[in-house]
Amino acid sequence: MDLSEVIATRRSIRKFRAEDVADEDVKEILNAARLAPSANNLQPWKFIVVRNEKKRRLIAQACFGQEFIGEAPVVIVACATGRGGCIGGYMESWPVDVAIAMTHLVLAAWAKGLGTCWIGAFDEDRIKEICQIPPEVRVVAVTPLGYPVKIPQATTRRPLEKIYCEDIFVE
Ligand SMILES: Cc1cc2nc3c(=O)[nH]c(=O)nc-3n(C[C@H](O)[C@H](O)[C@H](O)COP(=O)(O)O)c2cc1C
Repeated sequence: MDLSEVIATRRSIRKFRAEDVADEDVKEILNAARLAPSANNLQPWKFIVVRNEKKRRLIAQACFGQEFIGEAPVVIVACATGRGGCIGGYMESWPVDVAIAMTHLVLAAWAKGLGTCWIGAFDEDRIKEICQIPPEVRVVAVTPLGYPVKIPQATTRRPLEKIYCEDIFVE
């Protein structure tokens, strides 16, 4: 699959086969995250790879009972470890940096036939407790990782003409 095919065919996966994910595949996916750009090249991220079933199930509960998360053989918790980067003089860069790295991870996984589902609904304190994450580190996203049972239909997107304009901002 070339990059445009990976982008076009990726779906959020919420049902996983029991089949395990090889450690070398997980490492390859994490390496794609490692190569992401970041403000001032701060690379303010750490990815916690959770294979332990009990912990996976606890994480799913901490994601407000999204049980499918714990059914994947691997759960990844994306954390922000650093501060200091700034965007546009008003915005902290760490959530953006971690989101870019997470996007690399998601697309690299899909290129290997592995499904993910970006999870933004979680109780940060509970995730921190489960994974022993220090207070100053923030949880940005969670994703299950595993082989999809089936690939869902594409969800809709706004038409291309609606998402860009030329030279000046036009509603
Ligand atoms: C920031 C963010 C938070 C999300 N949170 C959740 C979530 O908590 N649970 C879930 O099932 N999907 C979640 N999603 C997945 C979206 O629902 C999904 O990406 C969107 O519906 C488009 O579908 P697609 O990914 O299959 O193209 C989230 C996605 C993003 C980017």
